Amino acid sequence: MIITIDGPSASGKSTIAHALAKRLNFYYLDSGLFYRALGYLLVSQAGYTVPDLASRINDKDINYYTSRCNYVYDQAGAHIFYEEEDITPCLKTKDVDLYASLIGGTPNVRLGLEAYMRILAQDKNLVIDGRDTGTIVFPNAEYKFFLTASLAVRAVRWQVDQGKKGIIVTLEQAEHAVKTRDDRDWARPVAPLAIPKDAHIIDNTNLSQEQTLQEFLKIIT
Ligand code: DC
Repeated sequence: MIITIDGPSASGKSTIAHALAKRLNFYYLDSGLFYRALGYLLVSQAGYTVPDLASRINDKDINYYTSRCNYVYDQAGAHIFYEEEDITPCLKTKDVDLYASLIGGTPNVRLGLEAYMRILAQDKNLVIDGRDTGTIVFPNAEYKFFLTASLAVRAVRWQVDQGKKGIIVTLEQAEHAVKTRDDRDWARPVAPLAIPKDAHIIDNTNLSQEQTLQEFLKIIT
């Protein structure tokens, strides 16, 4: 069985997807981590600059870096290894938010990463979260969700997340960062963030993590 969860930045998709996968004993595929890893490697290893991420990107570089990455999911969560090194801690920064969002609009990146995700998903019960997982990656998924919350609440969550990494941002900066990324993800011509037509929409503006999880479970079981 496949369960997809799409939604805007900082709506809590990864947290809920991981909790749901644990509860159901399913595999969890964090699709954003793939875009993050590729963006990070193109900049840190291949010497791309931010403008290059849209203009210089090519199949050779995409294949080179993705083929050297390994996705691992266990009870501790989702990890990406690059040539045996766990690069996950480098992937949740503000800079990598931008790199991932930029390359997410590139058709050849999407084709490559989607093919890789479909192979990983074969013969598995899984929960996957992202921007287009119910519309494009797994259009035949048994359950599709769209998880959202108000911009104000998502900005606070993002601010708190940054704070945990020692990065202090004002609420105004957080709202701006979250909204800029959302606008880009909604507006891009290729595989934009979208609400699947058969999705269950859950707004967790006023829900705790456990209450959000219960909303999902009510629909699935
Ligand atoms: O879910 P996340 O915040 O880790 O995703 C980071 C960025 O990656 C997001 O802004 C857009 C891109 N992305 C995408 O284009 N498609 C996906 N399925 C997942 C993420």
